[in-house]
Amino acid sequence: MRYLTFALAKGRLASKSLAMFEKIGITCEEMKDKDSRKLIFVNEELGIRFFLAKASDVPTYVEYGAADIGIVGKDTILEEGRKLYEVMDLGMGSCHMCVCGPESARELLKHHERIRVATKYPAIAKDYFYNKKHQTVEIIKLNGSIELAPIVGLSEVIVDIVETGATLKENGLTVLEEICPLSARMVVNQVSMKRENDRITSLIHDLRTLLQEENK
Ligand code: PRP
Repeated sequence: MRYLTFALAKGRLASKSLAMFEKIGITCEEMKDKDSRKLIFVNEELGIRFFLAKASDVPTYVEYGAADIGIVGKDTILEEGRKLYEVMDLGMGSCHMCVCGPESARELLKHHERIRVATKYPAIAKDYFYNKKHQTVEIIKLNGSIELAPIVGLSEVIVDIVETGATLKENGLTVLEEICPLSARMVVNQVSMKRENDRITSLIHDLRTLLQEENK
């Protein structure tokens, strides 16, 4: 049997995904050893392998078929724009992609001013401002702590993930516009979907049943 390979986005999402897989009988004991430096974990009996990758690399592994299946946030899927099938919303890690800033920036957005937008998600920001709002803006790519940008005057607004809103609140910022809802998704390589159709379809079925049970 060929291995079915899963790429999981490192961090909280990976732990939650593993807990979910465990509930449908897909386990990987090896992976629970927190001190291990191993990058790939195998369950020979089930013919599956898991590996952990940086979230933004998960769609790449899946598009090229180095992983058959990926678990990653919708934010990363939108930003990376890879060719793959998004087959399931796992309902975990629900949050929103938003335009945020100080209340004073609301007017600038309304009047389509040529503002600066700092973000970790330049593709999402560009699509939103150029294609949806038809507003010309300057997009500045940052790698983290995006909320700093309007505070120190790097940009007027930011495009970032808002979960509880606590980070914004503590920094005197607010949601100005909502771009889209986000959550963890299961993605599948397009060739694997055909070649491993039975195994993947049955996996999706089991996960759907589990999620339905849990949401009852
Ligand atoms: C994310 C996001 C916000 C924060 C939102 O950052 O970029 O900063 O979480 O969560 P909240 O609405 O619950 O406060 P993350 O902690 O992933 O790190 P980053 O700042 O390096 O992007």
